[in-house]
Formats: sequence, structure tokens, C-alpha cells
Amino acid sequence: MNNVEKAMEKLKKYNQDSVLKVMAKFTEEEKEKISNQILEMNFENLKNLFDTLSKEEINAGKKIEPISALKKNKLEPEKLEEINKKGENIVTSGKFAVATMSGGQGTRLGYSKPKGTFKIEVSPKPKYLFEIVCDTLKRANEKYGVIIPWYIMTSEENNDEIIKFFKENNYFDYPKKDVMFFKQGQMPLIDENGKLLIGENKLIKEASDGNGGIFKSMEINGCLEDMEKRGIKWVFIGSIDNVLLKMVDTTLIGLAEERKVDIATKSVLKNGPKERVGVICKKDGKVGVIEYSEIRPKMAEAVDEDGDLIYGESHIMCNLFSVNILKKLAKVVLPYHKAFKKNNYLDENANLIKPEEPNSYKFETFIFDSFNYVDDIAILRGKREEDFAPVKNKEGADSPETAIKLYNDYWKNNKE
Ligand code: UD1
Repeated sequence: MNNVEKAMEKLKKYNQDSVLKVMAKFTEEEKEKISNQILEMNFENLKNLFDTLSKEEINAGKKIEPISALKKNKLEPEKLEEINKKGENIVTSGKFAVATMSGGQGTRLGYSKPKGTFKIEVSPKPKYLFEIVCDTLKRANEKYGVIIPWYIMTSEENNDEIIKFFKENNYFDYPKKDVMFFKQGQMPLIDENGKLLIGENKLIKEASDGNGGIFKSMEINGCLEDMEKRGIKWVFIGSIDNVLLKMVDTTLIGLAEERKVDIATKSVLKNGPKERVGVICKKDGKVGVIEYSEIRPKMAEAVDEDGDLIYGESHIMCNLFSVNILKKLAKVVLPYHKAFKKNNYLDENANLIKPEEPNSYKFETFIFDSFNYVDDIAILRGKREEDFAPVKNKEGADSPETAIKLYNDYWKNNKE
């Protein structure tokens, strides 16, 4: 059997007749291409996901409880100094690396290029989001006398553009040998009947598999091996869209060391029930996060006797992982979260259809679901005005305008 025949068999076995019908309209070369893609795909996994689609929401049946974070000012000054020293030792001895996740799309921002290439008008000079991350690393390198290895997660969609952008900007003067790009994985989309879609490029339509894909991608692309070679012990994993993200926080690193945990996270207080942030909580006794898209309004709005949100500890994508746990997480299958979205596709006559309403499921894993694979994690409470200025929306809350203000105010009052 040749590859096209093998792929057709596989499609028949999984009742993907509509794909077979569209394929019949393709040239031999096009058939060969899509067949190679089909043969690589895990249809069993997809079938299982479809079979469980109608099941209850992801947190149903779990015992959810609030959790509180450690506040720096509650620590004795000597203790804080000791923790900071531990963190500093990790950084100065070259055991610390940073990973930036930039595989997502800037859809909400209304920006069609990779989000990291978005220029934001901060003072005294406008900067790209990638440049802001890079500058934070360069300041830390200067302060601690090291070069922090920098791993950048891209996606199939934006990888080439991101690499081109770095070349054009001479890597913002970061040493090239210490910057490593790696692509995240993809997952096929399916419609309401569990059928695959074919895109305009005449291939099965896939989308990024979510930021929880980082663990597997780090392994597949050799990042974990590279970290081991470099003697890295701790890796900070952060997002691209927070212009105040403190990646090299010696208190967070020191706290993880002190508490002998494999994961640490920094939170800020949620600014109201509607803020679009995940909340840190306990799920069945372990630390977890309930995403903003999945929290019930009643839980989001619940307050204590002082009027403070009971679930108010925000996950701000400010997470630290030991290399040991990264290696374990690379082998784990994190739960998939589904989103129902609009996606163009070719119908059975190979005509392009642009749906007016959502028509297909996208499956993503989330980085914070990894918290469930350890007994405990350290949670340090940060401050919004120092730690969190996200650039998510074109205007209004979490927009360039609000982020610029937070960034400029911070840098008016602080020097690093
Ligand atoms: C994310 C968090 C949310 C948190 C909020 C804080 C997740 C699932 N949600 O939500 O809990 O409160 O940030 O700002 O983490 N990314 C990839 N690949 C993907 C998807 C995303 O690399 O497939 C990256 C993005 O480039 C970005 C980061 O992950 O750096 C956050 O992604 P985004 O989807 O914008 O997160 P939010 O929905 O804002």
C-alpha cells in the first residue's frame, strides 16, 4: 500500500468520510501531502477527545477551596534576606534559565503578526514586547554577572516570522548562542460531529495545542537536554505580553529552594470578579488554577467578611519550574480544554466556506494544569504595580494604553 492508500484506510476506519470526499478533488501531489500529514496524526486521541466532549466541565466534581499566598512583608527581614541569597546563588552560579511563551496569537489585540513583535509606546522610547523581555534579561545579566539562557517558544504559524524578526533586530544584542527557539505542537480541529476540517492549504486544519504544550515541545526540541548540559536547575516560564514581568526574581527562586518544591508561582490580587485572569486555588487538596473562562460567576463574585474576593489570588503566568519536574511533565498528558470557534474550511466540493457562527472545536492544554503533578507549590504574592501590566486587548482594560501607564509609572519610581 502507498501512503495515499494507507491514509484513506485510516480515514475510513475513523469515519472521516468528508475528508475522503474532498481529497478526491485533489491532484496526486496534494493527495500525497495530506496523506503524509494524516499518517502522522493520532486519531485515537482525537476520537477519545470527541467522545468525552459532552462530559461535564473540567472542574466538575472537584473539591475547590481558596488558597492564600505568602506575602513578602510578612517575612522577618533576616528570613527574606536568607531567601533572596539562596535565589541569588542559583542565578550567579549559572543554574537559572528563562523561557518565553510566544506561540499564541494576538487576536484580541487585533494584531496579525506575532505578539512579541508588537511595538508599545513606552517612555523614554517605544519598545517591542520581545525587546522588553530581552532588556529585563540583559539587566539581570549585568547585575549578576552571567548570561541567562533564553528559550523562546514559537508556533508552526509564527516561528519563521519570529526568527526573521530577531535577525533583523540583531537579537537586540543578546548573545545568539544563548537564545534558542523551539516550536510548540499542534492539534487538529474537529466539527460538532467529530469530523476533521480541511483548510485552504489543502491540509487537515490544525491549531496550536495551547501553552501546556511547552513541556513536551521542550523535550522534543532538545531544550531539556541543552538545559542539563548547561547545568540549569531552575527555569522561569513566562508570557510575552506582560510588560512588567519580573523573570529573574531571586525571592521566588529562593522560596522554591527553601520550601524544597519543584514549582513556584507569583500571584497578584485580582482586581475584581470580572478580571480575565485564572485564580489560584486548591483542587482536591492540590494547588490548581481555575481559568477565567471556566469559573462560575458565583465563585468569581464570592467575598469574605471583609468584602475581599475569596478566589482572588491571580495566576499571572509568572511560573518557575525545576528542570527535574520539566522532565517529568514532558511525559504527562495534560487535560484538554475545549473552545468552540469559527474556522474556514473546504466543503465536500472543495469550495471555501467562511462560517458566520462557531463551527469547530479547538483543543488546548494549559500550563497551570501541571501544578496538579506535584504535591505542593510555593505561591508568592507580588504587587500589581510592580508585576503585572498585560497587553491583551486593543483598547480598554489590559490594553497598550493601560500597560504603558503601569510601565511608565513603575520606571519613574524604580531603578534596577
Ligand atoms: C493566560 C492564563 C491565565 C492568566 C493570564 C494572565 C493560560 C491558559 N491562561 O490567559 O490563567 O491569568 O494569562 O495574563 O495560561 N501561548 C502560547 N501558545 C499557545 C497559547 C498561548 O505560547 O498555544 C502563550 C501566549 O503567547 C502568551 C501566553 O501563552 O505568552 C498567554 O496566552 P493567552 O492565550 O493570551 O492567555 P490568556 O487567555 O490571557
